[in-house]
Amino acid sequence: MSAYKSLDDLFAARDLKGLRVLVRCDLNVPITDGRVSDVTRLTRIAPTLDELARKGAKVVVLSHFGRPKKGPDPELSLSPVAAALAGVLGEDVNFAGDCIGPTAAHAVSALPDGEVLVLENTRFYPEEEENDPTFAKALASLGDVYINDAFSCAHRAHASTEGIARLLPAYAGRCMEAELNALQLALATPQRPVVAIVGGSKVSSKLDLLGNLVTKVDALVIGGGMANTFLAAQGKSVGKSLCEHDLLDTARDIIAKATAANCKILLPTDVVVASELKAGAATQTVSIDAVPGDRMILDVGTDTIAHLSGWFETAKTVVWNGPLGAFEFPPFDEGTNAAAQLVAMLTRMGQLTSVAGGGDTVSALNNAGASEDFSYVSTAGGAFLEWLEGKVLPGVAALETGAR
Ligand code: 3PG
Repeated sequence: MSAYKSLDDLFAARDLKGLRVLVRCDLNVPITDGRVSDVTRLTRIAPTLDELARKGAKVVVLSHFGRPKKGPDPELSLSPVAAALAGVLGEDVNFAGDCIGPTAAHAVSALPDGEVLVLENTRFYPEEEENDPTFAKALASLGDVYINDAFSCAHRAHASTEGIARLLPAYAGRCMEAELNALQLALATPQRPVVAIVGGSKVSSKLDLLGNLVTKVDALVIGGGMANTFLAAQGKSVGKSLCEHDLLDTARDIIAKATAANCKILLPTDVVVASELKAGAATQTVSIDAVPGDRMILDVGTDTIAHLSGWFETAKTVVWNGPLGAFEFPPFDEGTNAAAQLVAMLTRMGQLTSVAGGGDTVSALNNAGASEDFSYVSTAGGAFLEWLEGKVLPGVAALETGAR
């Protein structure tokens, strides 16, 4: 049994007709030329909003958008996102130009049962990020119950993610529940062996992640620029590659921690090198012992992929965060594509559970045409990472211990 209450608990406890339900969503979606260019996060929250509306609730959506510096900024209005949400829901969506005060209160009281209202960007008030109790109270006054369906914001202890959950009966929405269930399967109670893949450019940005994963997984694949730091720590020459030379001791400590925890660290055995990072650059695949001094490592090679394939084929769980190479610049996406396609195929065959998320991971998997077949692809960036780091997410903790 989970430690938080779900929508089913809410439906069992309350008649939803006319109930004012505040739903924290993550409407922080990409906008190009004034239009939402990727509706993934909107499609993930649609089931929660639909269910609530069909039961006759007044559905009031709270969200931040971007990182406004000094109060209201028309560039960061949620109004175009509300319009895109209407498209996803196939229903009209109302919009109020403030998230507290008379404008918001009037819009909520005028909202017909069974309809959805989006309130303006909560970060137009600095009190949101300060988790100011008075601001949290002002938000809470607009609803009878609170639902958090924004796992991707749960690493923030803000008024709309944390403070408010302590003021109203609080529940997890469907998207929040799905994210937490997937992470549970990936790392908390996984089927073994578990193989984690961590890529990306810098060890320094993923120190906590690597440190936690080596104690939890059976094998850790390190790819991307950060692999170079580990290779250099083992005395390999990495030429002109991105490498954090000041972190070689740290990399050695992580390797020692992994050995003590019986976690196998898997580094590239061959790599694709080039003299410049640009799409279509001339490449060469070389052994990790023969990286030319004037070249950069930009992807893993075919022997590495063959070696990793053996691990994927015996794994029961794969957790993925970060690309193996500079995937934005083909052909340096080939290593990531090959690994992602294999994990996707093994998932489709029912051989393993695969969970991916964080930062560039989703675009790397989309680029590989692999995301559809993964067991779960998280919509979260920072929150996914912090969960994998073993940190408590304030937004989730507040649901578990908040008002009942
Ligand atoms: C995200 O896009 O990861 C979330 O919306 C959180 O945004 P933030 O990093 O600005 O808090």
